[in-house]
Amino acid sequence: MTTALNPAATARDDRQEILASLGRHWNPTAALMLAAASRPVEHESKNTEVIAEDGTRYLDLAGSYGVFLVGHGNPRVRDAVLDTLDSAPSVPPGTFHPATADLFALLATVLPKSLDRYVLGCSGAEISETALRAVHLARPGRRKIVIAEGGYHGKTLGAMTLLGQPNHREPFEPLGSELVTVPYGDAAAVREALADRSVAAVFLEPVLGGAHLTVPPKGYVRDVADACAATGTLFVADEIQTCLGRTGKMFAVEHDGVVPDIMLFSKALTGGFIPVGVCALSSQVVADAERHPRFHPSLLAGSSSVSALSVAAAAAAVREVLDGELAERAARLGPRLRDGLVAAWHRHPKHILDAPGIGFMTGLRTRNPSVELLISMVMASHGIHTGHSLNEQIDHPVLRFYPPLTITEAEIDRVLEALETTLTWLDHRPRRLTDSITWLLRRQYRLPAWLVLKLSHSKFQADW
Ligand SMILES: Cc1ncc(COP(=O)(O)O)c(C=O)c1O
Repeated sequence: MTTALNPAATARDDRQEILASLGRHWNPTAALMLAAASRPVEHESKNTEVIAEDGTRYLDLAGSYGVFLVGHGNPRVRDAVLDTLDSAPSVPPGTFHPATADLFALLATVLPKSLDRYVLGCSGAEISETALRAVHLARPGRRKIVIAEGGYHGKTLGAMTLLGQPNHREPFEPLGSELVTVPYGDAAAVREALADRSVAAVFLEPVLGGAHLTVPPKGYVRDVADACAATGTLFVADEIQTCLGRTGKMFAVEHDGVVPDIMLFSKALTGGFIPVGVCALSSQVVADAERHPRFHPSLLAGSSSVSALSVAAAAAAVREVLDGELAERAARLGPRLRDGLVAAWHRHPKHILDAPGIGFMTGLRTRNPSVELLISMVMASHGIHTGHSLNEQIDHPVLRFYPPLTITEAEIDRVLEALETTLTWLDHRPRRLTDSITWLLRRQYRLPAWLVLKLSHSKFQADW
C-alpha cells in the first residue's frame, strides 16, 4: 500500500491505511472509535457539506465545534490565504506584516472601543494563557481566579514551569492560580467569591459551550461583569466558541450589553483554514500590567509562530461575517433550528432532557452518553454530521448542532426531518440497547480492539 494518498480516489484500502496510520502514530483509541463508527474519510468539503470518499454528502452540523462558521473552504478566505502566500512568502512570521495591520484595523471596528490591544496566538489555549499572564501582571497581589463548573479554556500544562529564564518566569511566581469554581449561571455565587477582593479575574464563557452547552439566564453576564467592576476584578470573556456571530450577535457578551476587560476569540476566526486566536485587552488592563515592577512587553507575547497566512485568513473571515451579515442570519434562522430541536425534545422526552441554544449554537441534552452516540451515528447514516461529545465524560452530554452560519432554511428542515426519523427509530429500540452501549462506553478504553470492531460490525482491521 502507498502512503501518499490520492484524496480524489480514496478507496476502501486507503481508508484502512489512513485509520491504521492514525492508530499507529496518533491516537489508537480515537482511530478505533472512528473505525467502529464507520466514519467516512472526508476528501472534499464545501460550504455546509463534507463529501466522503464514496461520494456520500453530509450536511455538517458538527462544524468542528464552531470552526466552520463561514462554511467549509470559504472562497474569500481561501483567496486571501493564496494571495498572501504568493505576495509575501519570505516575510518572517509574526506581527510585522501588512496583513496584521489590516486585521487589527478590522478588529478595532468590530470589537468594543475599549478593547484595543491585541495579542495573537496559534490556538485557544495559547491565548487563554496570554490572558492569564496579563491578569496576573495587572493584579499582582491576587492569586485567585474564578471559573465556572463545566467551563473550558484549553489544555496547556505548565510550559512556564520549565522556563530557565528568570526574567520571563519570576514576574508570575508563585506559578499557578488558586481556582475558585462556581456553578455556571449563578451570579450570587460569583458575587460571594469576589466579595473579599482577593480574586484577580473571572474567566467565563458567555454561553457555556462543549457538552455542557448552557445559555445562562438573561442578565447573568451583566451581573458578573458588574460584580467584577465593583471589586476591581478583571472580567475575561472566553468567546472562543461564541465569537463572530455564532449566537446571533457578533460576540455573545453583547446579549447582555457587556464590555469585558479581556476577550478571547479563535475557532471560527479563520474559517477553518489555519488556527489562530486573539486575546483582546483593554488598554487599561495593559496599563495596569505595565505598572508591575517586573513588566516588559514580551511578557504578553509568545515567540509567535502566527503567520501572515493565518492573519490574512482571519481578516477575510471577519469580512465575510460582516458582508454576509452572518450574525444577523444566525439571529434570524437560528430559532428555526432551535424550535425544531425543542419540538423534538418535547416529542421524545425519553431520550432528550433539554434543547439549549441561542442563534446557531444549539444542541440536544441527551439522557446519557449512549443516547448521544446513537443519535449521532444514526443521523450520520441520514447524511447529517452532528457534534458528538467524544470523551467529555458527563452524564447528560449535549449533542451539538453548530452549522455554518450560511446554512439554508431547506437544509435546516432536512436536519430536523432526519432527527425525527432518528428519534422515532430510537423510541422503538429496547431499553437494553442503550443499557448495553452504556456498559460498553464505560469500558471502551479497556475492551480489546477486535471486540469493539466486531460489535460494531466494522470491516476495519486494527493492526497496531
Ligand atoms: C471556550 C473554549 N475556550 C478555549 C478552548 C481551547 O481552544 P484550543 O483547542 O484551540 O486550544 C476551546 C476549545 O474548544 C473552547 O471551546
